[in-house]
Amino acid sequence: MKRTVLLALLVLCSVAVVDAETYKWTDDQGVVSSTADPAQIPSRYRSMAMKVGDIPLTRKAGTTAIQNVAASESGRSANLQDRGGNIMAYPVKDYARLIGMAGFSEAMLTNHFTLYQGYVTNTNKLLDTLEQMLKDGKAANPEFAELKRRLGWEFNGMRLHEYYFDTLGGNGKVDLNGRLARKKIEDFGSVEAWQKDFMATGAMRGIGWVVLYQDTVSGRLFNFWINEHDQGHPAGCMPILVMDVFEHAFMLDYGLKRADYIEAFFKNIDWKAVEARLK
Ligand SMILES: [Fe+2]
Repeated sequence: MKRTVLLALLVLCSVAVVDAETYKWTDDQGVVSSTADPAQIPSRYRSMAMKVGDIPLTRKAGTTAIQNVAASESGRSANLQDRGGNIMAYPVKDYARLIGMAGFSEAMLTNHFTLYQGYVTNTNKLLDTLEQMLKDGKAANPEFAELKRRLGWEFNGMRLHEYYFDTLGGNGKVDLNGRLARKKIEDFGSVEAWQKDFMATGAMRGIGWVVLYQDTVSGRLFNFWINEHDQGHPAGCMPILVMDVFEHAFMLDYGLKRADYIEAFFKNIDWKAVEARLK
């Protein structure tokens, strides 16, 4: 009898310990700390705490004091903020719903998700490190400048992948009477002419991104080629549709047949989600 009670207590204690150790991190001295409240994690260890705990912060938002805010159109990135409204960390968005999408193997998608997760992790690390360097009076160091330059690449690597994945998983059917179609006709002459230009841009030699932008000043649509995540983006323009044409996005399934990948991409566009970005 006593043994049964003891065993039950041990099980209860284990559950309590697991629950209490939702977030763990190791500081510079090697001391391991844990907390159930992410707001208690020192800023410089936040990204590490996510990694060790291996629990997406989004799943815990409802059970902790932090707020999940700014979740807007079609599940766009939700920034987690502390009680003071400061951004804590960008969460890794879960795109498992895309597994099974026609023309995209599970292996290629999971590899791509892993790559995207790396951008989120590095963006959070850079933000933490830069914040700490500023506090430590190291902002004039060359290291600060180089990390600051790196931030644009990691951040855009994160955000462009989110724009890309967010509008996949649809049936590819365009509403020819919709606002976006009408805008394409206005700026390109026809929906077909827009698509021809977008596809031709995607088929260009080299690796990068193809982005349908809307200029927020004139309202005009443009198809742009982006060589690197952080270079060549038109100022004041909003990404409407983003296509990844880095080799990791298609080589595993299509080899050098990039045109076939672009066809598959178009068959899976969620045009309602794309149109919702249009102003
Ligand atoms: Fe990618």
